[in-house]
Formats: sequence, C-alpha cells, structure tokens
Amino acid sequence: MRLIDTHVHINFDAFQPDLDDVARRWRDAGVVRLVHSCVEPAEFAGIQAIADRFPELFFAVGLHPLDVADRWQEGTPAEILRLAKSDVRVVAIGETGLDFYKAVNQEQQKVAFESQLALARQLGLPVIIHCRDAAAPMADLLRRFWQQQGTVQGVMHCWSGTPEETEWFLELGFYISFSGIVTFKNATQVQESAKIVPGDRLLIETDCPFLAPVPKRGEKRNEPSYVQYVAQHVARLRNVSPEELAEQTTQNACRLFKLPIPLVTTLSPISASWSHC
Ligand code: NI
Repeated sequence: MRLIDTHVHINFDAFQPDLDDVARRWRDAGVVRLVHSCVEPAEFAGIQAIADRFPELFFAVGLHPLDVADRWQEGTPAEILRLAKSDVRVVAIGETGLDFYKAVNQEQQKVAFESQLALARQLGLPVIIHCRDAAAPMADLLRRFWQQQGTVQGVMHCWSGTPEETEWFLELGFYISFSGIVTFKNATQVQESAKIVPGDRLLIETDCPFLAPVPKRGEKRNEPSYVQYVAQHVARLRNVSPEELAEQTTQNACRLFKLPIPLVTTLSPISASWSHC
C-alpha cells in the first residue's frame, strides 16, 4: 500500500528527539511521500534541512492566517516568492487561508490570503488552504478572485466542513483533504462530507503533531504513519478497500502537487522506475 501524508509539521519541537524513528514508522506504514506545510517563512531553512534527511519530503512556503497579525509585513510576499523559487522541492504555497475563530483581524487575513493566492497563480503552484469558521467568506473571496484574476489549484486541508460547504469548494475546483478529525465519533458532518467528495478530488493527511486519529487519539503526538488510520476510516465510509483508497489518494496527491512517485510496474517487478503521474 502506498500512502501520501499531504500535511505534516514535523519541524515542530515534538519531533526533534526521535525523528529517525518516526520516519522508520512512516516508511513501514507505506508512506512514500509527505508534503510539509509551513506556518511562516522563517521555518523554511529548517524544513529544507529535514527534506535533506528524508528525500520523500516535499514542502510548501507561506504564512498561516493565525500568524498574519504578528508576521505579515510589506516584504512578506517578496520573501515567500524568493523562497518558493529557491528550491525545486517547493510544491505549494501555504499554508494560507482564513481563521475567523476568535479573530479580530479578518480584513488583514483576507489581504494576506489574496496576496498568497496571487503568488500561487504567478508561480503555477497549488495553495494549501486553512479555513476555520470562515467557509462562507472564503468561498466568496475565492469566487471573486477566480473572476478577477483567474483560478488557482489547491486543497482545503484538515477539512471539517459540512457537505454543503464541501460542495462550494468542489465547485471551485479544490481537492478536499481529511485528517484525524474524520475518525472522531462526533464528527458526523465531516464523515458525511468524506462520502461525497469525488474519488479524484480526495486527499488524506495527519496535520501532525496535532489531531491524532482514532485509535491513537489518546496520544499526545500525532505522526505521519498514522495517516494509515485516516485512510482506513475514509475507506470504510466510502465502501472501498483501504488499498483502493490509498492508491486513489496517492495518485491525487501526485497530480495536485506534481510529486514524483516510484512507479512499480507489474511488467518489471525488480526495477522501480521514477515517473511523474
Ligand atoms: Ni497545518
């Protein structure tokens, strides 16, 4: 089984003591690629250093909506642009978006988000979108942006929206990524959403170190190998085999982020070749 964890934060302190063990477990679980998110450009060098250790890691650069109040400055878009162009392993802009839970800077968040959408469009990269308590304003902003500046590809990450909200973002062309939240007993709306996403728009992630999925929910730290539990749960919801779900989401992640994947063909089982999917 090949899995891709499309959203990790393994640069956080929680992983520093034993990252080699964590990596061994994700490899044992079949995780062949990871997409590292970025909450602020200052993380970039540290993420690059982790990707130097683990070649299956690709990454994004951007500014998280909750960091906009402290970190968004006039030079920030130029900095994100410079970093994105500096490394071929950059596969997305983000994470960016809107987080209106307790937010007092909604307008500032919109400015920072639109700016990063424009960067993604300029670079031809997808965006990784964080959206909390802001589905309607997010959909409005995106529709207006599409009309005025053109479309951008992307993913609604760690998705927790209702089926109706899910439809809005599917119509906008987005992929929908489910995290450990979809495994929680009380997350019925999210589970309904996971049933309606077309097979070619579905992604899975851990968002580790946060939100460990059932059956690991009691653990303080989530980790990439646990994406297997998200895959199993979403597969059950959709009445497909875990293997089919894994392969489908792996293909989708490769398509959206233009990731190279090891292509194992049945014709030549001994040699694995590299290919873009
Ligand atoms: Ni994140």
